[in-house]
Amino acid sequence: MYLTEKEQRMLEGAEGYAVRKSMEILVALGDIYDAKSLIKVGSVQVAGVSYHNLGDAGLEFLNELAKDGKVRVLTTLNPAGMDLENWQQLGISPEFAEKQNLVIDAFKRMGILISCTCTPYLIGNLPLYGEHIAWSESSAVTFANSVIGAKTNREGGPSALAAAFVGKTPCYGLHLDENRVPEVHVQVNAELTKLSDWGALGYAIGKKAENKIPYITGVKAADLDELKSFCASVVTYGAKPLFYIKGITPGAEQQPQPKETVTIEQADIKNAYDNINDEVSDIELVCVGCPHCSINEIAKVAELLEGKKVADGTEFWVATSRTAKQLADKRGYTQIIEAAGAKFACDTCMAVAPLKGRFKSLATTSAKGCFYSRQNNMKTKMGSMEECVEAAVTGKWSS
Ligand code: F3S
Repeated sequence: MYLTEKEQRMLEGAEGYAVRKSMEILVALGDIYDAKSLIKVGSVQVAGVSYHNLGDAGLEFLNELAKDGKVRVLTTLNPAGMDLENWQQLGISPEFAEKQNLVIDAFKRMGILISCTCTPYLIGNLPLYGEHIAWSESSAVTFANSVIGAKTNREGGPSALAAAFVGKTPCYGLHLDENRVPEVHVQVNAELTKLSDWGALGYAIGKKAENKIPYITGVKAADLDELKSFCASVVTYGAKPLFYIKGITPGAEQQPQPKETVTIEQADIKNAYDNINDEVSDIELVCVGCPHCSINEIAKVAELLEGKKVADGTEFWVATSRTAKQLADKRGYTQIIEAAGAKFACDTCMAVAPLKGRFKSLATTSAKGCFYSRQNNMKTKMGSMEECVEAAVTGKWSS
């Protein structure tokens, strides 16, 4: 990969340890993927924030980098392993909290915004159409590429950090227009009537698109919450982190419709639910907000929960960014939700919190949430916000 004189000096250590290490990572990646050069990025989203995933080795690596590493572009963080303020309320141990706080401390010293959300685009890290960025959380990467029209590969935690310290990333993969051409036409003949249907659609397309870029037709309308749910699901279940929906996402009209066509029928949506849902009726954890709840979704939870009580033996978590929670505080939603016995899980989520062994069953609106919760040995149910609130109030899955 070609390096400018300045980049070469960075690689040789002229700008300190963190920049040298970062250049080593970026050059290695560039060589593997045949990048011709580095390109500037407008922002970075760093995943790999939970101490649960990092462990002591990861913490040590971050502390080394934090000695002289400072980010050069707006850099935000993915969810951590706990709510940074109310971790005790979510049953997190003091030992875990201490380690998680050390991780956050290291990121702070690097100059990273302690945002801890997978919806950075809702809290001020909003790239422009066509802008190159280096993001590393799969749903956010898919949203950035497809809904915003920015350009990013799916970075790993270390390569995203490296891009933040250098302000650049190797120009390969989805940074190049020739790699952003849709590869399979997906004709949707199914009707989507609730939020979780978008998770089911993501499952169905992810399975049929098989790591290709889908060009989707037949979808008449989509709102932001539906698109973010779809982004999380389609990439979790198999597709590349980029899609086009004709008439809805930017750039779709300029792309050619691929010849290879698959269809999604109502039976495929039903099949997705059948595969995502387990046999279970008692629900121990209800968690909504995967990806993190928008203020609209929090408003909906408040409306549905008002005057009700979460069942004994069931926990109800509303996972969201701290910024959205602050809006919810001001609008009175927090009071309604907490009065019902539900809890906010800010800064964290069901996939990165240390939940293994704590809950046997989960109800959620999210197909991605089900995928990761199964890895935590939970039986899963996916349904609408109404069905999830009902499960929280009764402790049972009814449909
Ligand atoms: Fe976000 Fe966690 Fe879901 S990172 S997309 S809430 S698994």
